[in-house]
Amino acid sequence: MAGAPVCPFRGPLTAPLVGPSILSADFTRLGAEVRDVVRSGADFIHVDIMDGHFVPNLSMGPAVCAAVRRAAPRVWIDVHLMIRNPRDFIDPFVRAGANNITFHLEVERNPRLLLRRIKEAGLTAGIAIKPKTPWTALSPFLDEADLFLVMSVEPGFGGQAFLPSSLPKVRAIRKRCGPLRRVEMDGGIASDTAAACRDAGCDALVAGAHVFGSASRRSAIASIRGVHRNRGR
Ligand code: DX5
Ligand code: ZN
Repeated sequence: MAGAPVCPFRGPLTAPLVGPSILSADFTRLGAEVRDVVRSGADFIHVDIMDGHFVPNLSMGPAVCAAVRRAAPRVWIDVHLMIRNPRDFIDPFVRAGANNITFHLEVERNPRLLLRRIKEAGLTAGIAIKPKTPWTALSPFLDEADLFLVMSVEPGFGGQAFLPSSLPKVRAIRKRCGPLRRVEMDGGIASDTAAACRDAGCDALVAGAHVFGSASRRSAIASIRGVHRNRGR
């Protein structure tokens, strides 16, 4: 499709990906915030969906995802479902322009089926685990998901401190899933914690508070990536 976003979540990479989480954006000017981080080098936009049940907070729904799509028609949209019934919301987020959907392993009885449904809709599919879930819970799906999201904070709020206990989990998953799938980390990512994540084998870094709170979003994104580019994509 002409003008469709280029998929960064399958295949080899030359540099780690950085995805700002709009949870920390200024919602009164969301479109401008999205365009600003894309111009500043963001590889994708991370959209955090919370239901007040799986996590003790509410955030946004498909209408906000659709607004991100309108603001940046060619950006890759990475939806992170922190909700109890992820299967009920695949179609609404497909219609809202999502490119990847990640759901939590802790709430899904048949993760294999849900991964297949997401892929059949033409998206990439990810599975997330909370800090207390062992990486081994993902073993049966290492050949089936495009992306493994290892939470580095308890999901629910932006701006929390990074949990180093997430690093050995990333190392174990990376060793087994190979270089063509993404291992993503989310929560408490800034320049210093990002370096530890990259060393552990993480190649998709989500950051909310640090990127949106920085005077120079370009420098914040470049320092999280650990590689400086002259221009954003
Ligand atoms: C937490 C969300 C994160 C969060 C990132 O539940 O999944 O995406 O917004 O937060 P920071 O980078 O602000 O720690
Ligand atoms: Zn997230």
